[in-house]
Amino acid sequence: MTQAVSLEVLVPGVLAGTVLAEDDDEALLALFDDPAVRPATGAHVRAVMVASLDGAATGPDGRSGSLADAADHRVFGALRALADVVLVGAGTVRTEGYGDVQVPPRLRAARAARGRAERLEMAVVTATGAVPEAVLDAGAIVVTASGAPALAALRDRLGDDRLIVADPPGRDAGPAGRVDVAGAVRALAARGLTRIHAEGGPHLLQELLAVGAVDELCLTLAPQLVGGLARRPLVGGDPTPPGRGLAPLAGTTRLELLHLLRGGDTLLGRWRVA
Ligand SMILES: NC(=O)c1ccc[n+]([C@@H]2O[C@H](COP(=O)([O-])OP(=O)(O)OC[C@H]3O[C@@H](n4cnc5c(N)ncnc54)[C@H](OP(=O)(O)O)[C@@H]3O)[C@@H](O)[C@H]2O)c1
Repeated sequence: MTQAVSLEVLVPGVLAGTVLAEDDDEALLALFDDPAVRPATGAHVRAVMVASLDGAATGPDGRSGSLADAADHRVFGALRALADVVLVGAGTVRTEGYGDVQVPPRLRAARAARGRAERLEMAVVTATGAVPEAVLDAGAIVVTASGAPALAALRDRLGDDRLIVADPPGRDAGPAGRVDVAGAVRALAARGLTRIHAEGGPHLLQELLAVGAVDELCLTLAPQLVGGLARRPLVGGDPTPPGRGLAPLAGTTRLELLHLLRGGDTLLGRWRVA
């Protein structure tokens, strides 16, 4: 849902003080359109997350939606409108109750004018194959690996058209069904889905960063403090149980600030992975 809220540009300096009026969708889209695809993958991967000021990726209800406000909805909707595919982990799909993914109606004409397909695709990464029926019914692509126990059932349900099998190189698979996320990105690009909007969650995002597959991070800093043991935007290790997800990225990932927007008390940053 895109909501009417104006946004002020803080960075880059040449645009500082520019106000993106609440009905000026074109100016907002132009800020984020159209990053170059990376030759190695044929794709551009934009990770899109929200966090509280104390670093929580979920609000008190265990979902990210309670961190998001109108400013975040506006930018999130614009980023979806510019994408070919939403790439998301099955944990997020289950927790957040995903069905279909939508481009905000008021941005559909601007999306079409840029030559994007009418339909925004969704690709769900899973080892278990536990993807809600509502998501399968909506026509999602499922990304899994050949060791996944549910592979045959998924193939029967979806056919090859809606299934991507991305095995780790050399079949050094680790847990059954573990997806090679770099291979998944290449497979999406090979289907013409080159502008990849990665909505998390924290496990999938860390995996994508670990293999160098993320080109850009759009992170909203919500003016809230959550405290407790809330999940951070990146979580490594075995996804279940959550407390075991403690492995950090190997080495530090440096990022370069491209944009910083302000909507009320919310800061919306865009960084390029260096
Ligand atoms: N703040 C934000 O912007 C934001 C964004 C998204 C989500 N969230 C929150 O994050 C929480 C969910 O966290 P999460 O870390 O569990 O989310 P997640 O990364 O979406 O889901 C993890 C699951 O994704 C699948 N997966 C990830 N990497 C895989 C790989 N390499 N191979 C095979 N499967 C893979 C597995 O699914 P299976 O279990 O099916 O095998 C795994 O259990 C929710 O509370 C949600 O609200 C926050």
